[in-house]
This record gives sequence, structure tokens and C-alpha cells, in this order.
Amino acid sequence: MMQKCHRKKGHFPLMALVLFVCIIFSILYKEITTIQRIRQSQPQNEVNDDQPQSSDFQLQQEFLPRPTVLLNRSLSSRAPPVPLDKSSACSSTVEYSGRRVLPAGRTPEPGGWRGQPQGCDFFSGEWVFDNASRPLYNESDCPYMSDQLACLKHGRPDVDYQYWRWQPLNCNLKRWNVTEMWEKLRGKRLMFVGDSLTRGQWISMVCLLQSIIPADKKSMTPQAQLTTFTAQDYNATVEFLWAPLLVESNSDDPVDHTLPERILRPDSILRHASQWKDADILVFNSYLWWRQGPVKLLWSNEDSGVCEEIDGLGGMELAMEAWADWMASDFDALNKQAFFVTMSPTHFLKEEWEPGSEGNCYNERQPISSERYLGNGIHLPTMQIAEKVLRRLSSKVSVLNITRLSDYRKDGHPTIYRKFWEMLSPETLSKPASYSDCIHWCLPGVPDVWNELLFQYL
Ligand SMILES: *[C@@H]1O[C@H](CO)[C@@H](O)[C@H](O)[C@H]1NC(C)=O
Ligand SMILES: *[C@@H]1O[C@H](CO)[C@@H](O)[C@H](O)[C@H]1NC(C)=O
Ligand SMILES: *[C@@H]1O[C@H](CO)[C@@H](O)[C@H](O)[C@H]1NC(C)=O
Ligand SMILES: *[C@@H]1O[C@H](CO)[C@@H](O)[C@H](O)[C@H]1NC(C)=O
Ligand SMILES: *[C@@H]1O[C@H](CO)[C@@H](O)[C@H](O)[C@H]1NC(C)=O
Ligand SMILES: *[C@@H]1O[C@H](CO)[C@@H](O)[C@H](O)[C@H]1NC(C)=O
Repeated sequence: MMQKCHRKKGHFPLMALVLFVCIIFSILYKEITTIQRIRQSQPQNEVNDDQPQSSDFQLQQEFLPRPTVLLNRSLSSRAPPVPLDKSSACSSTVEYSGRRVLPAGRTPEPGGWRGQPQGCDFFSGEWVFDNASRPLYNESDCPYMSDQLACLKHGRPDVDYQYWRWQPLNCNLKRWNVTEMWEKLRGKRLMFVGDSLTRGQWISMVCLLQSIIPADKKSMTPQAQLTTFTAQDYNATVEFLWAPLLVESNSDDPVDHTLPERILRPDSILRHASQWKDADILVFNSYLWWRQGPVKLLWSNEDSGVCEEIDGLGGMELAMEAWADWMASDFDALNKQAFFVTMSPTHFLKEEWEPGSEGNCYNERQPISSERYLGNGIHLPTMQIAEKVLRRLSSKVSVLNITRLSDYRKDGHPTIYRKFWEMLSPETLSKPASYSDCIHWCLPGVPDVWNELLFQYL
């Protein structure tokens, strides 16, 4: 796969995309294959040992308008569809028909975002070097740290990335206070729902919170899809639900899933909603898994297994609409709170912040200081779809717009300083940039700030 990733240099935007897809793919794929290895009881050949073909991933950048065909939602008389899992397959695949979950074009709600304090935009500002008050916890003090994010443990030689504090332009963030946060969480369930980026934010939250809880009063319960950190005395939990595509998909097992062929049910949100419906505070995200090329839609009333293929963005819009529909009709915003975290940017092209140079986030030690910087790691069409869907929910869901502030943090990624699940060849090792992770974030680091922002809203 690695060889495929740097085949040739060529046209910048196209190659950049292919490179992006390749690298994301290789990082996600590595996780998958290893976890397979960890699960020794599972047959190894389930995840194709064939390397994924980058030619399969014709990333369609533009979002084409399509005909709207309304689906009759009265499916209650039907037998429930077979749940999707890793063994699910399409009998055949046709082009996307234009079918929608719900009537398109419902009117957006008026007004601004829920919970946005007047006169202060938390999401515009700058990173300030502050080695007196940061980091908020130490990597080695957090027993729940992930090997994917523990950069010092995996040899990162510099520590400055831990010392940056986010300073909004015209106001201050409330100081992080772990006791106060626990008081807010008392008797409640806080649940993060999403992909590996959300998992990083959840681990950050657990690390931020766990230090004041004595060892015999806290526990971590790993379950299939849902992992729960419990603090007994506060009767509170901080949970993570793996749901990378929001709707039901063949990738809903957090360890035993397939990335190359993503099949989803765009009209089936209930499998996940049944797990999050009793949480008091919900934090969602979804984007990374839509950036890996087309996905396959298997509608719930499609008995013969015929899938429709749609580009990732189109799939994301359908899934977000199904999610938004659930939120609009079933989420009790009077007694609960919901947040959507916008896309977390990647840093795969150094020439964006240093024109004329090669490479990526590897060896970056400093944030970008220009407030006007906007890299290609921010995928605008993805942002626009999220925004369009979120507009409709503005009275129910608060947006944590972490995209721009995270985009300045080219120094914050694990690069080569994380656990890699497969043996890397000497040739690969000799080219560190070629396998650098410029997607996830070291902890302590950027996701701590996402959680400080969440703290402002609770
Ligand atoms: C939708 O389903 C209902 C109940 O099954 C049925 O009465 C109605 O005719 C259907 N409408 C369309 C447009 O198929
Ligand atoms: C904080 O950073 C300053 C400037 O780089 C340095 O002089 C100082 O020793 C650092 N303090 C700590 C505690 O690391
Ligand atoms: C992290 O460890 C250093 C050195 O052991 C210590 O001085 C500092 O107080 C610790 N920080 C936190 C937030 O626990
Ligand atoms: C943190 O919050 C607790 C409970 O709200 C409060 O008693 C304490 O004074 C706060 N600590 C700081 C440093 O603000
Ligand atoms: C603990 O919290 C749950 C909600 O998460 C609530 O139903 C239950 O009554 C609480 N128990 C106590 C002892 O406060
Ligand atoms: C988030 O902020 C970016 C600019 O930093 C903006 O383009 C985007 O529309 C915002 N997204 C939402 C959902 O507010």
C-alpha cells in the first residue's frame, strides 16, 4: 500500500487528494489489521489481505445536484431488515437513484446557534504559548491513554505541542476546573459518538477528569460498541460510542470492521440511537469516514441486496439528514444537551503553510501563527454539508466549530510517534513522512481544547 501511496508526483490538487486518501486509508487500515491480530480468535483473512486500490477511490469533489425521490416511510409492516455487519455484502451495485430519507429542503430554523454566548466567538483567536498553565494533565499520569495518541511514550523528542493555550479574540475562556466539571456531570451520562477523532476527544476528556477520582471509585468498562468510564461517587459516566458513519453500517464494530467497502443503511439510525437516547449530554462528529471514496447504500426495504453507490459527500449528507431527523423529533433539548464537533483538519501538505517545501506534518514544532491561514486539510464541501444540516437543528444542537483553531496546529499530530500496528519495513522507516499520522492528535494536546470549549457550554 505504501508504494501505491507515493507512486509519482504530478498535478498538485489531484495527487494531493490521492495522497490524502492513501494516507488516511493506510492509517485506518493499519488499525484494523492489527486489531484483527489482537483478536486471535478471529480468522485473519476476513479483512482482505489484498491492499486497497487507490483507483477505487475516485473522490468526487463536487456535490452534484440530484433528483429528489421521496421514500415512503411507512415501513412498519415490514420485517426488520437484517442488521449489517462485517460480512454484509451487496448482491449488486447500481448508481445512486436520488432517493432521500425525508423530503428535502425543509426550512431552516431562524436565529443563531444554541448556547452561543453573545458577543464572544470562542472559535476565533490564537494559540498562546503557556508552559505555566499547560498541559492540564500529564500523558504518563493518565491510565486510559491510548497508544495511538501517547506521543512522548512513543519517542516524540519535543514537548512544546503540550504548552499551547487557546485564546479567543475578544473574550476569555472560563478556566478549566475539574471539580466544577464533575459537578456539572453529577448523575449524568456524557456520551461521545463518532469515529477515532471523537475517541481521541473522549480519551482527552477522561484524562482531564480522572485524576481527582480515587482508583477504587472509577472504572472503565469496554463493551463492543460502547465504552464507559464511571465515577462512582458522582454517579456519572463518560462514554464513547463507535459510530463512524452515524447511521447503521457494516463498520459498526469498533475493532472488527471493513473500510474498503463501506455499506450503510441511510434510513437506519435507530441501532445507534437506541444506545445514545438515554445520555444527557451528547457530542457527535462525522467526517473522516466520508472522505475515503464512494460508499454503498443498502436501503432497509431493499430485500434483494442491491446497493446504490454514492460519493462520500452524498452519503454523508444522507446520514446526517437521518441523524438530524432523529434529533429534531426525538431529542429532548429542554432536559439534555447535544453538540456537533466540526471536522478536524489534517496536515498532509507542508507546502500549504510553507510554499515550495515538500513533506507534511512530520517534524512540525510550531503552530501556524497567521490568523488568515486556511489549509486544504479543511475540506469546504464537507463543512458546508455539515453546516446546512446543522442549521436546521440550531435550536437543539450547539456547534463546536473546532476546525479553524485546529487547523493552526500542524505541530499537534502524532506523526511517527504513536504505535503502528504493523511491522514497518526499513525502507518505510527511512522515510518518516511517508507513514506519518497527520490526522489524529497527540494528548495532551488539541482535543483538550475542544473539551475546554465544551466545558464553556455546559
Ligand atoms: C405509503 O404507505 C402507506 C401505508 O403502507 C400506503 O397507504 C400509501 O399508499 C403509500 N404511499 C405511497 C406513495 O406509496
Ligand atoms: C517555559 O518556557 C520558557 C521560555 O521558553 C522557559 O524559559 C522556561 O524555563 C519554561 N518553563 C518551564 C517550567 O518549562
Ligand atoms: C506533570 O509532571 C510534571 C513533572 O513531573 C509536574 O511538575 C507537573 O505538575 C505535572 N502536571 C500536572 C498537570 O499534573
Ligand atoms: C473549582 O470549582 C469548585 C466547585 O465549583 C470551586 O469550589 C473551586 O473554587 C473552583 N476552583 C478554582 C480554582 O476556581
Ligand atoms: C444515578 O444516575 C442515574 C442517571 O444516570 C439516575 O437514574 C440514578 O437515579 C442516579 N442514582 C443515584 C443514587 O443518584
Ligand atoms: C465553522 O467555521 C468556519 C470558519 O472558521 C466556517 O467556514 C464554517 O461555516 C463554520 N461551520 C459551522 C457549522 O458553523
